[in-house]
Amino acid sequence: MTAAGPTGWRCRVRSARAAAAVVWSTSPLLVAGLAVTSVAAGLILPASAWLQREVVDTLVGAHGPGQHVPVQHGLDSKLLLALVVALGVTGIAAAAVPQAQQYVQANLRRAVRVVVYDRVYQAEASWPGISRFESPEFADKLQLTGQLAQTTASDLTASLLGMTQAVVTTVTFLISLCLLSPVLAAAIVGAACLAIWASLVNADKQAELTFQNVIRSRRQQSYSSLLSNAAAAAEVRLFGLGAFLRGRILVEMNAISTSERKLDRRLLRVESCLGALSSAAVGGGLVWVVTRISASAFPVGDVSLFIMSALGLQGAMSQIAAGLGDISQAVTTFTAYTDVVDAPPDLPVPAQPRPVPPLRDKITVENVWFRYHPALPWVLRGVSLTLPAGTHLALVGRNGSGKSTLVKLLCRMYDPQRGCIRWDGTDIREFDPAMLRERMAGVFQDHMCYELTAAENIGVGDLAALDDRDAIRHAAELAGAAADIDRLPLGYDTMLSRIYMSGPRGQNAQTGVALSGGQRQRVAMARALIRANRDLLIVDEPMASLDAEAEHTTNQRLAQVRAGRTCVLISHRLPTIRAADNIVVLADGAVAEQGTHDELIAADGGYAYLFRLQAAGYRGALADDQVSAR
Ligand SMILES: Nc1ncnc2c1ncn2[C@@H]1O[C@H](COP(=O)(O)OP(=O)(O)OP(=O)(O)O)[C@@H](O)[C@H]1O
Ligand SMILES: [Mg+2]
Repeated sequence: MTAAGPTGWRCRVRSARAAAAVVWSTSPLLVAGLAVTSVAAGLILPASAWLQREVVDTLVGAHGPGQHVPVQHGLDSKLLLALVVALGVTGIAAAAVPQAQQYVQANLRRAVRVVVYDRVYQAEASWPGISRFESPEFADKLQLTGQLAQTTASDLTASLLGMTQAVVTTVTFLISLCLLSPVLAAAIVGAACLAIWASLVNADKQAELTFQNVIRSRRQQSYSSLLSNAAAAAEVRLFGLGAFLRGRILVEMNAISTSERKLDRRLLRVESCLGALSSAAVGGGLVWVVTRISASAFPVGDVSLFIMSALGLQGAMSQIAAGLGDISQAVTTFTAYTDVVDAPPDLPVPAQPRPVPPLRDKITVENVWFRYHPALPWVLRGVSLTLPAGTHLALVGRNGSGKSTLVKLLCRMYDPQRGCIRWDGTDIREFDPAMLRERMAGVFQDHMCYELTAAENIGVGDLAALDDRDAIRHAAELAGAAADIDRLPLGYDTMLSRIYMSGPRGQNAQTGVALSGGQRQRVAMARALIRANRDLLIVDEPMASLDAEAEHTTNQRLAQVRAGRTCVLISHRLPTIRAADNIVVLADGAVAEQGTHDELIAADGGYAYLFRLQAAGYRGALADDQVSAR
């Protein structure tokens, strides 16, 4: 599958308008500066061609095209001096204007880069759900956006302004050439039109290739990041994956190179043919003019004007052809950027969201059906449960039974396909998801360890407390992370990453630290706990990486923290959830049993079996055959 390329002119026009708007809104002043320098650059060549012609004609005493008068004795030296000075000025301008143009363009490119990326980050951060980050089509678009957005927008400007320059040059040379020979002018323009058409077709092919190759570049990047990534380094070495990954990278790179080479060959064929055609038109014209001069039909100055005009026109029109091709390609690929920044929210957000009140009564999950994609099986099949405010709900079940999925729905990372989740009776789809999440705190199973300092890793749980060291310490103590953090080289200011230094670069810089799995888990818990006084606390597998003692103390601390709070707890360690007010056992995406620990043990169902199994494992008392008898 490839990223869908844009289709049709309407789409391109929209994208071109968007690119132009981005550039214009970034800095109208720089755009104006670039336009002025481009027009000036466009006038330099024709001006010097006319001046040269005047100098030659003044020298030989000719006075205009078509008149062949005898050589005058006594030069008009003042006129000649003025012409030569003017010619010198155009020479200086020819050297200075492109430099000014480059300077303005580099400034514009830098400014556009910030604006373009900021809009992408803004869009990514604003999507309320997470499904878009799991879509291959969107991953392609994000990849293309990163690859092209910045260069595309500013290159588009450069191409547009380069075109302005080329058009100015073309028009002035065309006028000059028409005065000498309209037929010849038409021949050169005809050859250039062919080149423009070919360039547009080639640009389409080039853009198509970019879209086709995006998956290959994504794969290539993913494999190469495994070779350079600290997290993967140990496994890659243990399993000896280096050569295997390198092989995969080469397959992708070679496939990209082969497709590009094929297109380059086509470009070479087409462009050399068209180049030859256009040179033939100019060459033919030259022969014609020289013949006419021999027959004394033209003054000598016109030869100089002709040569410069014909070559200038040919050059300017090839610049237009190349520019139009670049613009067409840039516009086509820019659609990936507009698709990303203009994408509507991935979950419907009401125009007038209802305020999210503090949870007073209960959260209810009503007959919720959910699957991640229409092509994938149902993960939740009609789940219904109630979580009264101030109580603890425990979710248990085998791997893949849908526990983490259910908590993601509670946080509205996705919407269920059927059924609903209510917060004090209101469907959570009527809230702004950001406001809903303001009322929640949690640790996901696949929690993050950010490449930030220990303090920031906790503080980002509540940005208002990012600089509140007391609150951060308190959360770390509650989560059992404080002692580990105190032992770090720079304490809370230690960078939790081996690939960044802690503190300012220089004398005080210390290498960052990689935490152990259990330590990371406690830091993630501290991040959740700094969000004090939230209505709902969700903890998905808080003990997975903890040692037995840490599990015991964390259990006790969690019990304190949870007291009086509404809480959803997921754990495979059944002693952790024993005290929950309601234990829901999920099996194959449906509620298999629910009740308190004692009720479920008395019912002697799946929960009781799992509980006995774990207890036996701890005691080592249950014979294997007793277990396998179930
Ligand atoms: N982002 C996703 N896209 C597609 N399928 C997914 C995604 N996340 C989970 N699944 C699928 O949904 C099912 C339930 O996954 P979930 O993570 O909810 O299980 P779980 O009960 O939390 O399991 P565990 O005990 O292993 O944590 C699994 O079959 C899994 O493959
Ligand atoms: Mg899970």
